[in-house]
Amino acid sequence: MFVSGLELWQWMNQAKTEAIAYDIPLAEIHWLLQELAGLDRLALRLESFKDLPKIELKLSLSELAQLWQRRLQERVPVQYLTGVAHWRNFSLKVTPAVLIPRPETELLIDLAVEAVNSYGVNPKSHWVDLGTGSGAIAIGLACALPNASVYAVDCSSEALAVARLNAENLGFGSRINFYQGLWWEPLAFLKGQVSGMVSNPPYIPSSTVLTLQPEVVRHEPHLALDGGFDGLECIRHLVETAPDYLESGGVWLVEMMAGQAEAVADMLQSHGSYGKVQIFSDLAGVDRFALAYRR
Ligand SMILES: C[S@@+](CC[C@H](N)C(=O)[O-])C[C@H]1O[C@@H](n2cnc3c(N)ncnc32)[C@H](O)[C@@H]1O
Repeated sequence: MFVSGLELWQWMNQAKTEAIAYDIPLAEIHWLLQELAGLDRLALRLESFKDLPKIELKLSLSELAQLWQRRLQERVPVQYLTGVAHWRNFSLKVTPAVLIPRPETELLIDLAVEAVNSYGVNPKSHWVDLGTGSGAIAIGLACALPNASVYAVDCSSEALAVARLNAENLGFGSRINFYQGLWWEPLAFLKGQVSGMVSNPPYIPSSTVLTLQPEVVRHEPHLALDGGFDGLECIRHLVETAPDYLESGGVWLVEMMAGQAEAVADMLQSHGSYGKVQIFSDLAGVDRFALAYRR
């Protein structure tokens, strides 16, 4: 469907006024137009598209306006409206069955690579992403560790379908093995052989989930968010179960919520199977990642 640059520019200006009124970042209008009108960031910033005689849209202008109303009225995250989330160097398909991968989670891949480079963790062997959601971490690992076999697990079959599609679309279909099940359960055949476990599990206390911003609480899967009464139930389970699967020297690496670092470090230290427990912060300086090595 085609619209003139002027029509689209007028729509954009109207949308900007509404975004301000609804306290939604103006950048989201650009994201929407990048995905749906194929405009690049510079053209959007300079508004140079205004003079184009025609622009191809993936939908009609009235459908675009309806989509935008869903953003404003229903607080649907823009990534679910476009069906795309950008994470590291990947464009990932996302649906409401999967958590929208967050920028801070990108650091898990850098920490895994750092563990391989600095501590001699075996890059060729088996790496697992537990609670894969959109497949972001598994795909990030497959890309960063080209000799590794990657295993991705999720209990949600709908999430796994999205993750599989993302892996196929990005050329990692043959590098990642997908399993439906609870955490390590489908991976019994890897006991004692895993070089790295990476996970961004649900870690928000149940009582906090309902207080999150409407975009999250109304639209993202609660299965991906709810970490039980203290938020640490899944992490506790991963601390308990991983030693049976990790090889000696294998890395245990998890994302957690602000404020959980001390409790997670204590769990790892007191377990007895882990050494070199470390906490890493995100780009805002908040402690968000725990890493340890299987003794
Ligand atoms: C916070 S999301 C992380 C998704 C993705 N890895 C990311 O970082 O964007 C947690 C994921 O764990 C999955 N999950 C929750 N409980 C699980 C369980 N018991 N076993 C396996 N996966 C589980 C959810 O379905 C969800 O996809």
